[in-house]
Amino acid sequence: MNLRKRTGRLSFGRAPAALLVLVLLGSCGRVEQPLNSFDSQGPIAERINALFWPVFWIAVVIFVLVQGALLLTVFLFRERRGKERPEPKQITGSTRLELLWTVIPTLILAGIAVPTVATLFDLADCPPGAMDIEVIGHQWWFEYRYPDSGAVTANIMAIPEDTEICARMTSDDVLHNFWIPKLAGKRYLVPGQETVQRLYAEEPGEYWGHCAEFCGLSHARMRARVVAMTQGDFDAWVDDQLRPAVMPAPGSEAERGMEVFLASACIGCHIIDGVNNPDPATLTVASPDLTHFASRHVFAGATLPAGLNPTRADWEADLRKWLADPPTWKPGSFMPDLGLTADEIDALAAYLSTLE
Ligand code: CUA
Repeated sequence: MNLRKRTGRLSFGRAPAALLVLVLLGSCGRVEQPLNSFDSQGPIAERINALFWPVFWIAVVIFVLVQGALLLTVFLFRERRGKERPEPKQITGSTRLELLWTVIPTLILAGIAVPTVATLFDLADCPPGAMDIEVIGHQWWFEYRYPDSGAVTANIMAIPEDTEICARMTSDDVLHNFWIPKLAGKRYLVPGQETVQRLYAEEPGEYWGHCAEFCGLSHARMRARVVAMTQGDFDAWVDDQLRPAVMPAPGSEAERGMEVFLASACIGCHIIDGVNNPDPATLTVASPDLTHFASRHVFAGATLPAGLNPTRADWEADLRKWLADPPTWKPGSFMPDLGLTADEIDALAAYLSTLE
């Protein structure tokens, strides 16, 4: 009896807590939501949203009707003390009812299927004239290659605004999934196969993304950024990416950092064009090209620097933390703890910061 009383009191105590959670959830609208798929910023995401909302509202109407009828029935025909109710009339095999609840869902599903299938087919292939960008998934970062210019980068995919982009995607190891919620839906990256994803950003801006398929220990740390820029800025970006690395000033901290880079295991996996140019095939693990590392404001699978709006100082501080012990920030990272001294980390960070 006591137990029953207590549990009863507990569940009443939960009602205000649930209300509080609802109120707090309601305030989410004010928070910056970089992965909000309802906030479409281009025609492709817009078309997917245009499919979602009608289906959602149809489901809401059906839910309210069905649950309303159920609750009404439960309430109206509940057992009352002292009132005998006759057994309700039993209906078996009503052709009219059978037709009604077959025809209505069929019409609704057909109404949903036609625009859905049309959109699916339309988004499945890139239109002629689209700009190709190769996307290669790695555990745990995305690589971007620009076949028109030969530029190669990682973590940040630069695109020109108002341009149809055709991401031609594959994976270097396991299944990944490329998802930039404000620009497009999800699509798999499959080893040994090419899949395509259309992207289109109407405005310059930064669009966050995430790998959307469990791909190993650091799947949760495999993020992506698409940065859309004006055509002029994009052309300048490509020109910058094609330059060999900036050489550090003689006698500088950065030059000492370059020596640390060349003397350490870094060169087993990373390329800095003009500093070490191994055949990519001889690298131990495919790793981000560092030639223009500092031109990217994120690293470590676009998870660092942490936070929504980090500063350059955060970038530099997190870079030191990362160099000191990568597997702490990215469990399972193929970049090991190289056992660098604090002094070597300072020099290396100083050098990497010059690689614009
Ligand atoms: Cu790649 Cu999850």
